[in-house]
Amino acid sequence: MVITVDHLLDKLYEKNQLSKEELIYVLENIHEDSKKKLFYYARKTRDGYYGNKVFMRGLIEFSNICKMDCLYCGLRSSNNNASRYRLTKEEILDCCIEGYKLGFRTFVLQSGEDPWYTEDRMVDIIKSIKSKFPDVAITLSIGEREEEEYKSFFHAGADRYLLRHETASRSLYDKLHPHASFDNRINCLKVLKEIGYQVGAGFMVGLPEQSHEDLVEDLIFLKSLNPHMIGIGPFIPHSETPLANAKGGTVEDTLVMIALTRLMVPDGLLPATTAMGSIHPKGRELALQAGANVVMPNLSPTSVRPKYELYENKICVEDNAGHCRYCIENRIKSIGMVLDTSRGDHWKYSQAKAL
Ligand code: 5AD
Ligand code: FES
Repeated sequence: MVITVDHLLDKLYEKNQLSKEELIYVLENIHEDSKKKLFYYARKTRDGYYGNKVFMRGLIEFSNICKMDCLYCGLRSSNNNASRYRLTKEEILDCCIEGYKLGFRTFVLQSGEDPWYTEDRMVDIIKSIKSKFPDVAITLSIGEREEEEYKSFFHAGADRYLLRHETASRSLYDKLHPHASFDNRINCLKVLKEIGYQVGAGFMVGLPEQSHEDLVEDLIFLKSLNPHMIGIGPFIPHSETPLANAKGGTVEDTLVMIALTRLMVPDGLLPATTAMGSIHPKGRELALQAGANVVMPNLSPTSVRPKYELYENKICVEDNAGHCRYCIENRIKSIGMVLDTSRGDHWKYSQAKAL
């Protein structure tokens, strides 16, 4: 029998697994018709676990100060033209109060790797949010920390942790992350899982020199880590970084990676990322139609939004929390999906609570 992309997609849909060679074959040979089939299978797989619901998280970007120097990121420490800010605990709580009124039951606290937020300060912030809003989930996205800190945050009430692996190709990782350790990052993800967090990994598509083989590494890595959440977005060049003149990822390539990820990790929570919305007016809707099932509208104060510039031309920087909340709901409705305003835990965690 002649192997075709369509046969391989059938196999992937049935078994949620393909070999490295098969995945490379798919990436090298996929065409428009087989993409339709891929997205259809991705939607069916998602619907089997979560229905046509889209879960909503409120993103609070509480500091853009970062000690890391990732080549792609506008917040990198070498970017002296970034205007830096930190939110106080009170300002973060104000975002939560507003978000709670708008129906958010998950707050994602994201920042650069900012050591000012020590273990004690983070614990205080987490406990303050949880005592005011016991029914919300807290997701942290603050980078690599010590195991002991991860444990304290968890015991203080943090439920989930996002730490994208960025790329599973060690050589590409090393080129993009000066003074950082690929092994440490992967180890952090394992430690976070062991502690009991719902863990999010993820990667960028269209990084300079990223090959199909590298992207297949991402899929195989995710299959073995089996995280609860997976954030995938296009790389978007930022003019104040060494990658200013790089090409950047495309909507088309990112959609294929989202759909393949859905089939490899069928029960994952996959956001339709802001980066997708930033390179295409319907980027987030397209991601949802390729198997994503989470949106993360911005809850940060409008005054700081333009400063959290991971990449340029980011959407929503002039908008406020209420606007984004309803904008996103309309977008979800426009493609026949339904906004779900519950905490939106991974199904394994929802079951554990019901028992
Ligand atoms: N383009 C797209 N995504 C980026 N990120 C950082 N810089 C960029 C960029 N220039 C992503 C990284 C990081 C997440 C918070 O944002 O994957 O983990
Ligand atoms: Fe922010 Fe649409 S989600 S303006």
